[in-house]
Amino acid sequence: MKPPIILINYKAYENSYGQKGIEISKKIEKVSKDYNVPVIISVPATMIYRLSQETDLIVYAQHVDGLEHGAKTGAILPEMIKDAGAKGSLLNHSERRIRLDEIHDAVMRMKKLGLESVVCVDRYELVHSMAVLNPNAILIEPPELIGSGKAVSKERPEVITRAVDEIKKTPGVYLIAGAGITSGEDVYRAIELGADGIGVASAVMKAKEPEKVVESFIQNALKALEKKS
Ligand code: G3P
Repeated sequence: MKPPIILINYKAYENSYGQKGIEISKKIEKVSKDYNVPVIISVPATMIYRLSQETDLIVYAQHVDGLEHGAKTGAILPEMIKDAGAKGSLLNHSERRIRLDEIHDAVMRMKKLGLESVVCVDRYELVHSMAVLNPNAILIEPPELIGSGKAVSKERPEVITRAVDEIKKTPGVYLIAGAGITSGEDVYRAIELGADGIGVASAVMKAKEPEKVVESFIQNALKALEKKS
């Protein structure tokens, strides 16, 4: 994982699985290859195997249970997502909250297996306490802006700048900003404010031409990074 981090969360949108899931992923893959910028897609568990086989995108699970093998009906273990081809997982998304001890167990288990973990938080005050678990990245998303079309980088820039101050205390852990990211300008601003990348869902999953949206995100992310260097 390295900046610019572009993480697209498929959630459970209608085009997140099946043939539509393949089609949108192929479009994203083409842009990723054209710009030589790896893109992370966080997909429904049922799609991990197919998308890992059929694309060169970095496939993540949307959630994983940090449990051991055994009598755990319905559990999705780190070993299972690894076996299916995933490179990592989101943890503790606002739409899939888990307890602190569960976050800890999952991050540790994934680390042992060589899987990446991105822990989500809904406020900057939690950035440091999650970052000390040493995941690969923290994804900060104010829940009220998720799916709103109002970008965190425009509506609540202080959330990003404060999170950036917090993440600096744990070198090696990246900061991703998300919620309401819609335009290339939103992406530019997030990175300008100090984020290492962006997390997005609706602007891509609901787009008529998702490849154009992703292209604009990548172009702006690269431009913002270049300006910072
Ligand atoms: O994980 C990213 C997601 O929660 C942001 O959603 O629709 O606001 O881009 P959205």
